[in-house]
Amino acid sequence: MIRRLRRFGLGTRILAALLAVLCVAAVTAWIVALIIGPTLFHDHMLMVSPVAPDSDVVTHAEQAFDTAWTTTLALALAVALAASVIVTFFLVRRLVHPIGEVQAAVTRVAQGDFTARVPEGGIGVEFAELMSAFNAMAGDLDQTERTRVRMLSDLAHEMRTPVATLDGYLEAMQDGVARADGETLVMLREQTERLTRLAEDISLVSAAEERRLSMHPTPTRIGDLLATAEAQTRSRYQDHGVELRVSADEDSRRAELSLDADRMGQVLTNLLDNALQHTDPGDTVTLRAEATDTSVTLDVQDSGHGIAAEHLPHLFERFYRVDTARDRSHGGSGIGLAIVRSIVTAHAGTVSAHSDGPDTGAVFTVKLPRHTTDTMKVQ
Ligand SMILES: Nc1ncnc2c1ncn2[C@@H]1O[C@H](COP(=O)(O)OP(=O)(O)O)[C@@H](O)[C@H]1O
Ligand SMILES: [Mg+2]
Repeated sequence: MIRRLRRFGLGTRILAALLAVLCVAAVTAWIVALIIGPTLFHDHMLMVSPVAPDSDVVTHAEQAFDTAWTTTLALALAVALAASVIVTFFLVRRLVHPIGEVQAAVTRVAQGDFTARVPEGGIGVEFAELMSAFNAMAGDLDQTERTRVRMLSDLAHEMRTPVATLDGYLEAMQDGVARADGETLVMLREQTERLTRLAEDISLVSAAEERRLSMHPTPTRIGDLLATAEAQTRSRYQDHGVELRVSADEDSRRAELSLDADRMGQVLTNLLDNALQHTDPGDTVTLRAEATDTSVTLDVQDSGHGIAAEHLPHLFERFYRVDTARDRSHGGSGIGLAIVRSIVTAHAGTVSAHSDGPDTGAVFTVKLPRHTTDTMKVQ
């Protein structure tokens, strides 16, 4: 039964509903007119004069009354019927068009075209909400799809260089042009390490984006965080002849925050490594912490190469590098800052970059709210 009903279109259903209402109204009017009308009329006729009226007159008058009400009812019914058909026609035309648009857009999305959108507004609040919900959903899918496509092509691009280098060396060794001496093996190891690092970074970023980055917040003193980051990077700084300063007053060092110390340590070492890569011997990098009642700010400031203004808004995007060739030669794949942002966001904090331009140095600022346990989310 239900399946048979599904075959009928919207227009037929609305028309059927209107006709049903019309029938009920007509039958009611007919019954009322048939039972109550003539009796009332008869009683009134008898009240017209004190003497009983001529029976011929009464019969005529009653016939006239019958004809009048049946004609009136039939006419009203015909007009109502015509009105129902016209109303249904316009209503359906108004409804079917936007529904058709939604249907077409849904089909496009189902076929993988996430640029499909429907015009918002039109026929009522509920429909406008449906349209805007659909557009929001299509927009999200579109964004995800673009990211996926870009990430895949970036990934392929990132893998190509080390794989080509490995291939070139192996071929040269096979042909006897190169020998598997210490220098060659170091070169080969560098390339495999780079691929390993790339795989680790990608898995970290995708875990963060799928919101399954595990966080283990524990009460951590800012002083300890600074000391660990400094210990992990100090020797690299010494090798490059860049001075690393750590600056924080006693209160800030003693401030305690609930955070994942390993992950936050990774944030600081990422920022310190970046600063080292973009400074020259003789430059200075300062790791600074400042705690207030409501937040803790961690700064990594360098006196190095600086960043042009047009790059600042993109630095935290995956695979974004300012000078692709130079940054790649440092072994960077442009994922470091994306990881930094994921971890900081998971701690309900913010991270920003500032530079006055090339050769003016750069400063990266991480701001974490205090008492983050409640707000900490995995992102
Ligand atoms: N302290 C800095 N000074 C100048 N440029 C920087 C600094 N930190 C990061 N950048 C720029 O931001 C880009 C993205 O950084 P990151 O995501 O860590 O990627 P990478 O793998 O290249 O280090 C870098 O390639 C570099 O161009
Ligand atoms: Mg980096």
